[in-house]
Formats: sequence, C-alpha cells, structure tokens
Amino acid sequence: MRAAAMRAAIAAAAASGLAACAGLFLPGEGTSGAGATVSGRALYADYCAACHGPDGRGDGPAAAGLSARPADLTRLAARNGGQFPLVRVMAKVYGYSAGRGGGGGAMPEFGPLLDGDTVLVETAPGVMTPTPVRLVALAEYVGTLQQR
Ligand code: HEC
Repeated sequence: MRAAAMRAAIAAAAASGLAACAGLFLPGEGTSGAGATVSGRALYADYCAACHGPDGRGDGPAAAGLSARPADLTRLAARNGGQFPLVRVMAKVYGYSAGRGGGGGAMPEFGPLLDGDTVLVETAPGVMTPTPVRLVALAEYVGTLQQR
C-alpha cells in the first residue's frame, strides 16, 4: 500500500468537506472485503469501547481518567448534516494509527488496524484510495451506532 498517497487522499477528502459525498464500493454491511473475517463490531470492542463506550456515547470505563472527554460517536452524523462522515472517521483513526494524533494524542495508536488487505474506497469524488479493510469495517460499524 502506498501509505503516503492514501494519507494525502484521505486528508484532502476530510479537509475539503467532501467526505460526506464519499461512496463505498463494498459488499455487505458491517464486514468488508474478502469474506466476513473482519468484524467492525469486534474491532470496535477491542480498540475503541474502553474510551468511547460500548454504544459509542463517550462513556467507556477508561474515559474517567482522561483529560479530554472521548467524543460521542453516536452524534457524528447528526453533527454533519445527517450524513455519517465515514472518511473523516477513517482519517481520524488513520492519523492516530500512523502515529500523528490529530487531537494532541488523546487517543492511542492503532497500528494493527492498518494491517491486512486493502479495498478501494472513494475518498473524494472520483478518487479511489486503497484503504485497509479493517479500518473500513471499523468505520462502517461506527456508522451503525448513529442516533437516528
Ligand atoms: C484512550 C481513549 C480512546 C480510545 C481507545 C479511542 N478514542 Fe477516539 N477519542 C478519544 C478522545 C479523548 C477524543 C476527543 C479528543 C480528540 O478528538 O482527539 C476522541 C475523538 C474521536 C473522534 C473524533 C470525533 C469528532 O468529533 O470528530 C473519533 C472519530 C474517534 N475518537 C474514533 C475512535 C475510534 C474509531 C476508536 C477505536 C479505533 C477510538 N476513537 C478509540 C479517546 C479515545
């Protein structure tokens, strides 16, 4: 995977606000790519729930010890005009995964999320970016936590 190109594409998509228009070319929901071996729900439980809580409300058991409050991940769509900002979520986690925390390092690094197969994701209109399947599955799962 060309990490630099992916980072640039995701960052550009996120920064330009085009993320809401991004489309995914993936079968199924919640799981992505080859087979159903990647479970966004399991990844969320492993990497995110401690701080963001089992339902994404920002009330995980580890939240109390943090200086910054973990974001309420159930309101990402509501705060983005009703569109779940999939690419922005991936960019956020990707930023931490690659060791440059966008929010002052409040979240740990998630290196293993970038391991394994990639799928093409439209990170901006007409821009297809090879993106780790695990990262996509995780972000899709966060999408299912949105309040309606
Ligand atoms: C150690 C605690 C911790 C863990 C683990 C953690 N986060 Fe966070 N997260 C935070 C904190 C604190 C913030 C708010 C500060 C910031 O934005 O950096 C945050 C912010 C975010 C935001 C920004 C929300 C917004 O308003 O745009 C996203 C998206 C997010 N986290 C997703 C995740 C995902 C997905 C995972 C699992 C891979 C995860 N986080 C794991 C603590 C954590």
